[in-house]
Amino acid sequence: MNLLAPDVRANPYPLYAELRRHTPVCRVDPGGLWAVSRYDDVVTVLKHPQPFSSEGIRRTYRPEWIPDYPMADSMLVMDPPCHTRLRALVNRAFGTSVLHRLEERVRELAHQVVTALPAGRPVDFVDGFSSRVPICVLGELVGIPPSLHAQLKQWAEVMTRFTSVGPDDLELQEQIRAALAEARRHFEQVLEERRHEPRDDLISDLLQARVDGEALTDTELMGFMFLLLIGGLETTVHLLSSCVLKFQEDPALMTRLREEPALIPRFLDEMLRHSGPVHGIVRMVTDDVELGGVQVPRGERLLLLLASANRDEAQFPDPDRFDMERPGPQNLPFGHGAHFCLGAQLARMEARLALEALLARFARLTLGNEPARWNISLVIRGPTWLPLAGHLD
Ligand code: HEM
Repeated sequence: MNLLAPDVRANPYPLYAELRRHTPVCRVDPGGLWAVSRYDDVVTVLKHPQPFSSEGIRRTYRPEWIPDYPMADSMLVMDPPCHTRLRALVNRAFGTSVLHRLEERVRELAHQVVTALPAGRPVDFVDGFSSRVPICVLGELVGIPPSLHAQLKQWAEVMTRFTSVGPDDLELQEQIRAALAEARRHFEQVLEERRHEPRDDLISDLLQARVDGEALTDTELMGFMFLLLIGGLETTVHLLSSCVLKFQEDPALMTRLREEPALIPRFLDEMLRHSGPVHGIVRMVTDDVELGGVQVPRGERLLLLLASANRDEAQFPDPDRFDMERPGPQNLPFGHGAHFCLGAQLARMEARLALEALLARFARLTLGNEPARWNISLVIRGPTWLPLAGHLD
């Protein structure tokens, strides 16, 4: 079973349903990871950092061709107690202040982005709409000015290809090293500037954050900035792209949300369950273990299929149906447990404000002459090119 086969990439949900039904914990291609597809098994793994470790996958971020990749120092690849300390420091700075600081700015920005979209003719909505607000938010978070946002986007794009680089792909390896060096240089400069002249922003708060008198080290700060770059952009862009694609597919739903924008948060929750952007996250097994009735040996890597867990019929009746009234247990689009997404509230806010602005301008969206193009990744799924036309009536 190859999760990257073209027909599976086009629509992975039938395969996920097969896996849940017959082989809920089994090896898949490429890479020989063990796919975990049922909701309960995914939650079990995420609740137990031992024997299901995040730290165990750290060496994936230290291949020979790039020994100094800061993601290897980020909290994403740490277990308690190291993760607990770092997360407490970062929570303190991130908290609700990020949301309060950014809300008005995001609203204004969303309005500008949507006003700039042409009416009646197709344009690429990934570039023209979905990526615009998230890139500005990321820029604000990591202190990169608007004049460098195009570069910031390019660094993020190049570096998210890290997970798919092969040992002989020397050209891509070189591109990633170059983007890394450039991003690092800019981030070091931002840190230096904020040390001397603190501002009312996240980086200044991070520099001042203390837990039990301890601050973040320079290495941890750099790891965190790269984690925001990798985790905070593509995810939110794909969420917005899936939302506009849904509007195009279901014009009645679009009309309903235009008439009742207060329903947007509920719409977003169901979008995140039904078509969330993060499909798989990885853990390492540190002891021989039984999971879902299957023996998994120590040292193996698990691919936790969040997108499959979110359509598990044992939790969500008629799971393929899009249903905003759906009650039920917590969805898993942002993970679960210690590593639950730090930016979940921020992503929801960005998406809500961007959609409010879009719905205020356009009554309908139609597909252009060419089909959408999708990315290729085990971890994240979304369109890379989405030709849509917005109509005013
Ligand atoms: C729709 C958008 C998003 C989705 C679906 C998403 C999903 C996730 C998931 C599934 C994890 C857990 C990873 C794991 O357990 O290994 C995670 C972690 C994380 N996310 Fe998000 N994310 C989104 C947006 C954001 C944004 C906007 C930011 C910040 C700007 C962000 C920052 C983070 C960070 C820092 C972590 C690591 C937390 C930790 O290790 O304790 N994410 N995200």
